Amino acid sequence: MKRSLGVCYYPEHWPEEAWAADAALMAETGLTWVRIGEFAWSRIEPAEGRYCFDWLDRAIETLGRAGLQVVLGTPTATPPRWVAGKHPDMLAIDAEGRPRKFGSRRHYCFSHEGYIGECGKVVTQLAKRYGRNPHVHAWQIDNEYGCHATTLSYSDSARAAFRNWLSKRYRSIEELNSAWGNVFWSMDYASFDEVDLPNLTVTEPNPSHAMAFRRFSSEQVARFNQAQARILRRHTDAPLMHNYMGREIDFDHFEVGRDLDIASWDSYPLGFLSDRLDAPEERIRKYLRQGDPDCQAFHHDLYRAVGAANGNGAPHEGRWWVMEQQPGPVNWAPWNPAPLPGMARLWAWEAFAHGAEAVCYFRWRQAPFAQEQQHAGLLRPDGVPAPALAEAAQVAREIAGMPETSPCQAEVALIFDYAAAWAWDIQPQGADFTYFHLMLDTYRGLRKLGLSVDILPVNTTSFAGYRLALAPGLTTIPEHLMPALAKMDGIAVLGPRANAKTNEMSTPVPLPPNIPGLDLIVACAESLPPGEAMPLSMGGACIRWFEHLEGKFETFAALADGRAAVARHGNIAYTAGWLNPEGMRGILADLCSECGIEHRLLPDGIRIRDTAMHRFTFNYSAQESSFDGITLPPAGVHWQLR
Ligand code: GAL
Repeated sequence: MKRSLGVCYYPEHWPEEAWAADAALMAETGLTWVRIGEFAWSRIEPAEGRYCFDWLDRAIETLGRAGLQVVLGTPTATPPRWVAGKHPDMLAIDAEGRPRKFGSRRHYCFSHEGYIGECGKVVTQLAKRYGRNPHVHAWQIDNEYGCHATTLSYSDSARAAFRNWLSKRYRSIEELNSAWGNVFWSMDYASFDEVDLPNLTVTEPNPSHAMAFRRFSSEQVARFNQAQARILRRHTDAPLMHNYMGREIDFDHFEVGRDLDIASWDSYPLGFLSDRLDAPEERIRKYLRQGDPDCQAFHHDLYRAVGAANGNGAPHEGRWWVMEQQPGPVNWAPWNPAPLPGMARLWAWEAFAHGAEAVCYFRWRQAPFAQEQQHAGLLRPDGVPAPALAEAAQVAREIAGMPETSPCQAEVALIFDYAAAWAWDIQPQGADFTYFHLMLDTYRGLRKLGLSVDILPVNTTSFAGYRLALAPGLTTIPEHLMPALAKMDGIAVLGPRANAKTNEMSTPVPLPPNIPGLDLIVACAESLPPGEAMPLSMGGACIRWFEHLEGKFETFAALADGRAAVARHGNIAYTAGWLNPEGMRGILADLCSECGIEHRLLPDGIRIRDTAMHRFTFNYSAQESSFDGITLPPAGVHWQLR
């Protein structure tokens, strides 16, 4: 498969005289893609209906003539002032009831029909003008849905749309009252028009109400995206993409991905480490200039599956890119260190090893104005190359001589479900029970054992070829899942909290997990504060969460006091707790041995990824590290035929 590099560029930020030289240097560096346009609405349509495409025509022409392929963004993440003036009620409203005002970006509510109409008009103009432009080879719709906490909006438009959504889902208000258990605290409604949004309640709202709102809000994002995808499809055959953000789980990316051809995401390893991962201080210090060694890979694997949500191929074959790759310090984390020399190269190779078709650095030249002045680019604000430019050029040279990096199916599958993330956000029961972290801890445990992992959506119907499939924290087990897992020639691992809620966020009876063939119920679940641990007899411990299991099963792993921590029956295992790293590694290693999956504990910071033909080894540590006869410098990358 052909791999390529690109960059994000904002011609509207620079004098036109600079464009040709910029384009020439991009091409000379070995970049072949350039993404433009996604924030340029005020220059494309400075006043309602007054379109100014001349500059964009020339920018595309200049870039294209230099041999670059353009990804054109629809500018709907940055509605200009006149749009907000025309539709004052299009602003999203936060949970405290305050408008999210004009003056930065993403200031719109997904439910505002007037705004969707404005987007439709500008996207239609763009699509008509550039849909067949020979230099425009792909489209990006909007920018980072959900970023800056923008999925949920408590506006009047959202409320009206939510009521309408409820009336379709429940058909009668009695049905809704019963599904939500509104008899509790006299919350019964007499009509859908009485149902408000679940914010500003005295204490927590009914979790069923909150969950319905999360589902609705997620669907609004997919609907918003679909409206633009439909317009673009009428005028272009180029692939459509969206650039998802890291650790953004407020909407179902698989749903959005259905309408797109390629998934992409924005990878800011150092920003994420200190801003988005709630990482312990020790990990932040250790990986300060490299980023968490599993965070990028986790998202690569997740978004590869999102890239397959359109049904064109198996999840491990999904088409995906890194649309924005951190090149130097970012501006938005609490602290913003510079990457270790070599990381801008390592991050790109890691993405390719996980199947990325392209990696685009963000951004070309650092902007000397506005919000992101402190955000590095490939060039400094004065146009002098920043350190990442040479690394990008190196990657470009390496790609030319490189290896095939087509992905192959992994032996291990990790099942990811956005609805589970919402459920545990609504009822964590322990302040630090976060679905994202449960998944990342499990993924980390697998990767520490040197394994490549495929992340799969919960609607997967065949696990053929996998030997181990894990679905931690899966709130509701859909009907098809256990029969599909039963057909797999391997072990399925569920829990904790498997099937602990119905789709309506109530507790099912018979009690969870209610897995056919597994005589086991969770009689009681407890959460533990930081620092508390329930030791396992094999070493390691359960932290944060522990379930008291009853039934007739084999104890695969026990607490030191003899109680079951992992229950087992045939090819199903059930994990009763949240395993700490040592416990996770021990249990995963035992399961792998049983399934015949080759594994070994990797040295600190070393990670491996297998493609169809190669084994890639990455050194995320700040020290030289030796492994398997290979010595890797800090930020080192090595590949060899498998
Ligand atoms: C991304 C965003 C870019 C830019 C970048 C800075 O989240 O898509 O427009 O703001 O962050 O790191």
